[in-house]
Amino acid sequence: MSERLRIVGGARLHGEVSVSGAKNSVLKLMAATLLAPGKTRIGNVPDIADVSIMIDLLTRLGCTVERGSGFVEIDVPKEPGHRADYDLVRKMRASINVLGPLVARIGRAEVALPGGDAIGSRGLDFHIKGLISLGAEAHNEHGYIIASAPDGLIGAELFLDFPSVGATENLLTAAVLAKGTTTIDNAAREPDIVDLCQFLIGMGAKIEGLGTSLLTIHGVDELHPTDHETLPDRIVAGTWAFAAAMTKGDITITGGRASDLELPLEKLTSAGAIVTSTENGFRVRMDSRPHSIDVSTLPYPGFPTDLQPMVMSLNSIADGTAIVTENVFEGRFMFVNELVRLGANINVDGHHAAILGVEQLSGAPVQATDIRAGAGLVLAGLVSEGTTLVEDSFHIDRGYPHFVEDLCKLGADVIRERVDDV
Ligand code: UD1
Repeated sequence: MSERLRIVGGARLHGEVSVSGAKNSVLKLMAATLLAPGKTRIGNVPDIADVSIMIDLLTRLGCTVERGSGFVEIDVPKEPGHRADYDLVRKMRASINVLGPLVARIGRAEVALPGGDAIGSRGLDFHIKGLISLGAEAHNEHGYIIASAPDGLIGAELFLDFPSVGATENLLTAAVLAKGTTTIDNAAREPDIVDLCQFLIGMGAKIEGLGTSLLTIHGVDELHPTDHETLPDRIVAGTWAFAAAMTKGDITITGGRASDLELPLEKLTSAGAIVTSTENGFRVRMDSRPHSIDVSTLPYPGFPTDLQPMVMSLNSIADGTAIVTENVFEGRFMFVNELVRLGANINVDGHHAAILGVEQLSGAPVQATDIRAGAGLVLAGLVSEGTTLVEDSFHIDRGYPHFVEDLCKLGADVIRERVDDV
């Protein structure tokens, strides 16, 4: 039974909204708890379905997990299991983050290959190559990555062809327990990586170069449990910032860190928004129709690929023409056809899109294909004349806790409905 969102466009969003912990961080922190036996507590945990999937995975690996309001406590056994099954990995790609910790801690792991998804092919070759450089044996067999290092991992100089977030995380969480020193050059610099480094340091790891593209990890013999607060979700915060700019609204985003969103907020300013910092976050106000903004997605500190759908939606109704270039995931323009159903004027050529802003979009049924595309379509629905139905809204729920409630609080006309109810 599927659900959808019914949006009646036209409201100007105004008020305050709070941002909880980052999905892209908390799942990785949870996987990294496997590195130390005992009870680790993680706070600022968002209320999203993927956290439950990670709990299922950790439970299958022998952990005891307690989830309370905004926190999880994970009790890791001395001898955790070593297999992440396909049924969970296919539901949530972050499952692959157990690979590094398991190989490092117990010397073996079998993790299902997640396959491609709606935003494009997402390789794991850097993960495997890196583990082999650290002395593991690793190969693909029957749809699984089978890795082993019965005598432990050995520090090495690693270089990533592309600053992949997932590969940096898996190699970092493997290297913390390796013998000797590991360097990861061309490492990802996303705030999520810094958060993971701080978490690992809290467990007793020795890591230098946080936030830079050269991480140096001095392996230690063992790690211990810790207590950590997840960093705020910059993509959720950024989504609200775009919602304010598109609806000519005024939103104070409490808990959002403007410093993690420098480029997106600069782009919104050039679109005409007024961005100011507040005591616990920042505020975005817009008084006129936005100007078009040219954007190229790139690894952090470049423009995040996860906010690209919001940029497309904003440009759809902006004054002028924009070029948007997607450099991270080749499939991320798939949802453009849905925006076109709302009346957007977009031409895609390879990984470039040209958008000629129109005065007004018109509501229609559209399909969410992934979390961020879904959120981008909701923003477009907010500024469309009439009713927009965003089908398969479960995608959006994976990344945006209490999205409908927050939208309503800010003045939007949105309801969630079961498709067989109507
Ligand atoms: C990416 C984003 C991250 C975002 C997340 C969820 C970047 C750099 N990363 O992280 O910010 O939160 O999606 O949408 O924007 N690749 C390989 N081989 C590998 C690993 C990666 O070829 O072994 C390629 C991928 O196919 C992709 C690119 O590198 O084109 C980035 O991948 P990666 O950063 O690993 O993706 P995520 O960790 O999912």
